[in-house]
Amino acid sequence: MKIIIINGSQKTGESNTGIILDELNILFKSGHEIVNYKLGTKQLSSEELKNIVSFDVIIFGFPLFNDSIPSNMLKMIIELESYFANGKPKNITVYAIINNGFYEGKQTHIAFEVIQNWCEHCGVKFGGGIGQGAGEMIGATKSIPIDSGPFRNLGRSLELLANKVELKETFEIKYLSPYFPRFLWELMSKYTFWHPLAYKNKLNKKDIVKKIV
Ligand SMILES: Cc1cc2nc3c(=O)[nH]c(=O)nc-3n(C[C@H](O)[C@H](O)[C@H](O)COP(=O)(O)O)c2cc1C
Repeated sequence: MKIIIINGSQKTGESNTGIILDELNILFKSGHEIVNYKLGTKQLSSEELKNIVSFDVIIFGFPLFNDSIPSNMLKMIIELESYFANGKPKNITVYAIINNGFYEGKQTHIAFEVIQNWCEHCGVKFGGGIGQGAGEMIGATKSIPIDSGPFRNLGRSLELLANKVELKETFEIKYLSPYFPRFLWELMSKYTFWHPLAYKNKLNKKDIVKKIV
């Protein structure tokens, strides 16, 4: 079976999406042709787009941006549509693994609906996937084996997903939150991640508390 795994994170270095997809990769049995593709912000050539629709299975991995799909992913799936439309009946199954910054993986449900509608529009099968919350904790805890740390339910779900992918069968959409107290994650993410990131990007205390609307 030919499987393409597309990482839609816009980060140039390590991404939470990439860490999850690495875990998924090692779960596939040998004998499949597996191609990993880092989308980044680059423009895909028509050859690359044509190549994507030649796979039996497409797995989209990406972070949630503003409750939906990051612009680079959106652009790619819009461009891909014409390649599906020009082709013969497609026997392709599409899965998605979406991670988001807030605690609850359920936040990804709108992005899942977008992917699901897109699959219907393109005439390909939607195979479900995983919506994982507290995405930035994945990078912060990556030294802990996935099957024993706060993401052990993610580890188990990836195993089940890999089995379904190998059979091209439908997987339910699993929305996951970590085994970690929500209030602690809120405090930790604010003070150890988001605020330092804001200061690094030249924002000050006032900017951080400013209401946009
Ligand atoms: C521009 C932008 C918009 C985001 N929007 C949301 C959002 O709507 N909901 C959410 O839970 N997380 C949101 N996040 C957080 C990311 O989904 C989260 O940090 C994710 O783990 C990043 O994944 P990556 O490392 O694979 O890029 C946003 C992040 C950025 C940079």
